[in-house]
Amino acid sequence: MKELKIFGIVAVFTLILYWGVEPFAHSQMHKHVEGHGLVYDGKADIKEASKDRKEIEKKFWNDVAQISKLKGDPVAGEATFAMCAGCHMKGAANMGGVTPPSLDHAGAIYDKNFLIALIKDPALATNVAHKYPVGGTIAHPMGPVMTMVTAPQDIANVVAYLKAKKAGEVTPKEAYIEACSRCHANRYGHLTQLGEIPKTKSNIKTGQDIGALKYKEKVAEEQASLAEYLGTLPPDLSIMIRARNEHFMHVFVENPQSELPGTAMPRTGLDKEGMEKVMAYLEKTGDPSKPKREAVGPWVLLFFFIFSILAYLWKKSMWKGHH
Ligand code: HEC
Ligand code: HEC
Repeated sequence: MKELKIFGIVAVFTLILYWGVEPFAHSQMHKHVEGHGLVYDGKADIKEASKDRKEIEKKFWNDVAQISKLKGDPVAGEATFAMCAGCHMKGAANMGGVTPPSLDHAGAIYDKNFLIALIKDPALATNVAHKYPVGGTIAHPMGPVMTMVTAPQDIANVVAYLKAKKAGEVTPKEAYIEACSRCHANRYGHLTQLGEIPKTKSNIKTGQDIGALKYKEKVAEEQASLAEYLGTLPPDLSIMIRARNEHFMHVFVENPQSELPGTAMPRTGLDKEGMEKVMAYLEKTGDPSKPKREAVGPWVLLFFFIFSILAYLWKKSMWKGHH
């Protein structure tokens, strides 16, 4: 009886510690941040802007809202898209520290308002304007678009074109590559910042894989230029979804500044579908054995169930006649 009481007291205190203190300490150390529901209307940006930037943000997001109301013409937008394709073509070279991503599924993964904002002013849209002080000498690498596609109707048209022609089915991997891969490697997905790691072979006589060495050199150069552009090399995302919880991932990717003020990671402007696809891919590389594990679970339980019955029957038969 005494043991039972002691056990009870220990159990109660353990539970208080487990449920009460740890989550409480955690919530104090990591401020809980809410997302914006993947709505890109600038409300949060205006609220968080410093005094001297408030008016700039207000005017910018107001302009975006006006363009958003225009009816875009996808056919006219296709002609304008040639300006984008000049930088965003297949096999594009690194410019200003980063390689422009493929836009093949841009209409499927990015929010319409975000795309309008991005063409109007890439630094403001992606919430990294703090990196480009007014009157400074560095410019956002996509900055030239601000002199190429300027009329509100042209912006509406090209976004209508993306939404109509560059949408379609997109796999989790394609979404991830277009939205994240230019900055983040994913070792378990066999991806570097330059894309899929090519298959190469060692020389039979020397044992050296010259193709792999050359590829490594190219990746190292790309990473050095990214580190120069962003101030740090973005981390490998293979198992990031296990290190960070899902809520953090969503809020961080929606607006990196909300979790890491001053970070160089841009807001990526994913819409609901884009976010789901990217997270599905990170889930897959971060925990590839999850589906298998879940499939095995019921069999393990069944095994223990049958084993318990057998053990019980065995015990009964062994003790038969001993009492
Ligand atoms: C233009 C480059 C760029 C792109 C594109 C980009 N990131 Fe990042 N990301 C960074 C940088 C730089 C950091 C490091 C942040 C820091 O330490 O300030 C980072 C950090 C992160 C982190 C770690 C945060 C932490 O707590 O340490 C996660 C998670 C992340 N990125 C997810 C993503 C996902 C998912 C995508 C695609 C939807 C993406 N990133 C696209 C540049 C980028
Ligand atoms: C001068 C070259 C250039 C032009 C012109 C250009 N872009 Fe970009 N774009 C870039 C670069 C470089 C990046 C990567 C920036 C980064 O990661 O920081 C980028 C990124 C993007 C992204 C990804 C944004 C994100 O948040 O992940 C989209 C979408 C995009 N561009 C669309 C367009 C569209 C649409 C046009 C035409 C209206 C266009 N771009 C014109 C260079 C360009």
